[in-house]
Amino acid sequence: MGVNIAGRSFLKLLDFTPAEITYLIDLSEDFKRLKRSGVPHRWLEGKNIVLLFEKTSTRTRCSFEVGGMDLGMGVTYLDPGSSQMGKKESIEDTARVLGRMYDGIEYRGFDQQIIEELARMAGVPVWNGLTTEFHPTQMIADMLTVREHFGRLAGLKLTFFGDARNNVANSLMVACAKLGMHFCACGPQENMPEEKLVETCRQVAAQTGGSVTLTDSVAEGAANANVVYTDIWVSMGEAEELWEERIRLLSPYQVNADVMEQASDDAIFMHCLPSFHDTKTTIGADIAEHFGIEEMEVTDEVFESARSVVFDEAENRMHSIKAIMYATLK
Ligand code: CP
Ligand code: NVA
Repeated sequence: MGVNIAGRSFLKLLDFTPAEITYLIDLSEDFKRLKRSGVPHRWLEGKNIVLLFEKTSTRTRCSFEVGGMDLGMGVTYLDPGSSQMGKKESIEDTARVLGRMYDGIEYRGFDQQIIEELARMAGVPVWNGLTTEFHPTQMIADMLTVREHFGRLAGLKLTFFGDARNNVANSLMVACAKLGMHFCACGPQENMPEEKLVETCRQVAAQTGGSVTLTDSVAEGAANANVVYTDIWVSMGEAEELWEERIRLLSPYQVNADVMEQASDDAIFMHCLPSFHDTKTTIGADIAEHFGIEEMEVTDEVFESARSVVFDEAENRMHSIKAIMYATLK
């Protein structure tokens, strides 16, 4: 049976079947080939999209902008400071107005509930560019990157080290479960994903041959891991005061040469980015000054190593976001 997700919103991977997710990864690969060989693909000419950002972004914003323009669409970017959104007009009212003007809406912001509501009211497909709970467009890029490297997904072990209850970790757990992979969350008890989501993912994994494991042992997390993944220790929207506690809790789960040594011989390193692997950022420099550490979730050595595929991952954001827009708007 063919896969068709035209007209649907892309809010979280739990809403999609393994076949639909695989279709998006395949389509991303097709768009990558077209882009690299310089074949024009203005297949959505005449359509317009709007991007609503309540948090900052480099990769996601640029992927939607370049992806949208490559597909021939008009693209409008709105942050809370440049529109009525937030200050004078609710997200819901903004969505209803924009749904009358645009063919698709991207939203990056806070609670998942907001984007679910927005999608109910907009009347056009809505895409999740990151919420507190999930980051689903990142997953299509990540799974494409893993598949490009290993030639397959099912059966591989992916371990997430660190703040395993953040949006990226939650989404990786869902993606792995859907695609028959073995997901391991490696971190302290305080930073484990919510029990309900773990249970849901375990049920999904039982159908696909995957698994979900939680551990506070670095040795267990690293053992046989084909993909070693981490993300920043304090996410956008969280209080700055949390840094001290997170550094204390998560430092034992830093991805360093020792962790990579304990992983599978063929292991790759992944990170959604941005990353604090040195002090060349204002936050990185500030943390170094206050806490005396120059690298956080990953060492510069691992980040810059041959095993690191983080920039392939970043490029793949554009191809996969293009695929998501095309599949839902065509
Ligand atoms: N990975 C990611 O979403 O990056 P941005 O915050 O730059 O969009
Ligand atoms: N967990 C991070 C991901 C950034 C892409 C955050 O939400 O800030």
